[in-house]
Amino acid sequence: MTENEYIKNLYIREDAVLKKVKKSMTVNGMPQIALPPDSAKLLYMLARISGAKKILEIGTLAGYSAIWLARSLPEGGSLLTLEIEEDFARAASQNFIIAGVEDKVSITVGDALNSLSSLRDSGENFDFFFIDADKIHYPDYLEMALEMAEPGALISADNTFWGGKILDPSDREETTEKIRRFNRMLSTDERLESMIIPTGDGLAVARVKEA
Ligand SMILES: C[S@@+](CC[C@H](N)C(=O)[O-])C[C@H]1O[C@@H](n2cnc3c(N)ncnc32)[C@H](O)[C@@H]1O
Repeated sequence: MTENEYIKNLYIREDAVLKKVKKSMTVNGMPQIALPPDSAKLLYMLARISGAKKILEIGTLAGYSAIWLARSLPEGGSLLTLEIEEDFARAASQNFIIAGVEDKVSITVGDALNSLSSLRDSGENFDFFFIDADKIHYPDYLEMALEMAEPGALISADNTFWGGKILDPSDREETTEKIRRFNRMLSTDERLESMIIPTGDGLAVARVKEA
């Protein structure tokens, strides 16, 4: 048994709802790219420990990670999740009802860059961000998150190892380069203190410093 299998066996519980969400992905022909359960549990813990009350997720798919995040919220907390595919958003909405989190969660359908611009322009702020949409825009999503972050907010992101491609210097593919850039931004931006947790495909977490 590996250390990861040990952790999964001991700490990760996927209840019937989360299993149904996974099933809905197959039924709806979605790509199997939801967070792995160990990363999802860690994300839930980060949101819970930080006391997040207003969460913004970029990249909904079937709502698997959104349900974990919604479950971390205190009474009166809310989660907004952004998704470009209407069919995925529709399936996710159904899953939020099944999970009983529909009162806390809302979805905005459209290109996340446009949705983020509108949110920023209307003066919205959040205390927890989870970036998990198209990797090529990770640096842009980080910039937008920083503009809307409360002091002390957490910004998290999945796939920061990009399946190990970031470690291969011969890989100059645009998406790989954008993720490398995103990781460098996290490590060098004076406004942040950051780390990559080597769970799943690399879960980055950054804390926005108080001014
Ligand atoms: C990796 S999946 C999200 C998985 C989800 N966070 C989970 O763990 O259950 C990425 C999602 O981002 C969506 N997406 C891709 N590009 C997007 C964009 N420009 N704006 C909004 N959503 C986008 C995809 O349609 C897909 O559903």
